[in-house]
Amino acid sequence: MKVDILLGLQWGDEGKGKVVDVLAPKYDIVARFQGGPNAGHTLEIGTTKYVLHTIPSGVFNENILNVIGNGVVIDPISFLEEIKGIEALGIDICKRLVISTRAHLILPTHRLLDASSEAQKGKEKIGSTLKGIGPAYMDKTGRNGLRIGDILEPDFNKRYAFLAEKHKQMLSSMVAFTYDEAKLAEDERKWMECIEFIRMLHCTDTEYLLNDALKSGKKILAEGAQGSLLDIDFGSYPFVTSSSTTCAGACIGLGLAPSAIGDVVGVFKAYCTRVGSGPFPTEQLNEWGDKICTIGKEFGSTTGRRRRCGWLDIPTLKRAIILNGVTCLNMMKTDVLNDFDEVQVCTHYIVGDRKTDQVPYDLGAANLMPVYRIFKGWGKITDISSYDRLPVELQQYISFIEESVGIPIKLISMGPERNQTLIR
Ligand code: GDP
Ligand code: IMO
Ligand code: MG
Repeated sequence: MKVDILLGLQWGDEGKGKVVDVLAPKYDIVARFQGGPNAGHTLEIGTTKYVLHTIPSGVFNENILNVIGNGVVIDPISFLEEIKGIEALGIDICKRLVISTRAHLILPTHRLLDASSEAQKGKEKIGSTLKGIGPAYMDKTGRNGLRIGDILEPDFNKRYAFLAEKHKQMLSSMVAFTYDEAKLAEDERKWMECIEFIRMLHCTDTEYLLNDALKSGKKILAEGAQGSLLDIDFGSYPFVTSSSTTCAGACIGLGLAPSAIGDVVGVFKAYCTRVGSGPFPTEQLNEWGDKICTIGKEFGSTTGRRRRCGWLDIPTLKRAIILNGVTCLNMMKTDVLNDFDEVQVCTHYIVGDRKTDQVPYDLGAANLMPVYRIFKGWGKITDISSYDRLPVELQQYISFIEESVGIPIKLISMGPERNQTLIR
């Protein structure tokens, strides 16, 4: 058996959570491979809307095991809140959850370091989710981090104190940044309580669990967080997250060999959004952008921030498809554009006096101009029972994207709920 990978091809929030939930019944295991509580994956099931941050989006499907891989960073406090929220829906989540011993922990001081780094950057700030992601991955690569496996060791508290003290010294040297020491002490107490709870969960070397599962014929779906344009290597650096959000990240973040990869499902919106700072060539700072934001309810699932909105960008989509080896595409939020008389797509850029469909080193270059092709709007979609019944203008939009990128769009999402989905 091979592992299928599902990931975002834009700046995150493509609708990954919905698709994982829709596709999950085909799988035995759903596994998250990177990111942490910076992610916000929304699932709408009937009248219930749920936002998952660290827990994989397979949890609402009975009989699916959900694995949090070694590539994920876990904040025990928000993780426990998430578990309690799901338990309140009557779901015995702990039975369906396994955590890698190699996943790293986000400390309360990592959050403060994140805030202080953003404060220091001032106007140049990344617009991070302030969940401590960057500092936690820095401690991982700096070989200072604490891992889930460490919480079972007798010297864990000592190691925690050593790292937290180091962070506090770093914080005290930051100019123009102060924090509430009493609040930190309270957070640290709460954090340790949550660690006690995690000790009772199923924590194991998930690389064995996943490889054994594949060997015994089980089907695994690897769920990405963020999107390719936020990738630490290939995203719009430095305005990125701190992990590998591309397909290769699934191998590293789960302990699976590249030869184990099967389908790579690339998820994208019928337009583009981005939260936080950084270049966004097709951003529409006008009525179109406002209209997409309003109809698409484009406000962050994790931070509530307004998402910046713009037209679909084919050059960045093509590049994400190459980087990930995407085998099929899922187009999300198609319904959001129903009410538009015209819809635009960026087909290439003009950079200086050169026309290109490649993404340049500096996506924010002052001399980069997106060039658009205009499509007639398709109006209301009344029948999603088959592709042939979709409005012809929408079929033209879909065909154009498929021809431009050379990959088929196999799933078209036309609403946040499970049943508002057309699978071709
Ligand atoms: P993720 O981070 O990729 O899982 O995406 P988010 O959950 O952050 O953001 C996607 C938002 O769009 C959520 O509120 C979803 O409920 C919603 N959504 C997903 N698919 C569709 C769709 O096809 N149409 C509409 N209107 N909303 C959708
Ligand atoms: P999902 O999985 C959208 C963005 C932040 C910021 C940058 C760095 O829901 O698609 P970080 O906190 O990671 O250091 O922030 O990355 N960002 C996301 N944007 N969706 C996400 O996740 C994101 N996770 C991080 O807004 O610009
Ligand atoms: Mg999201």
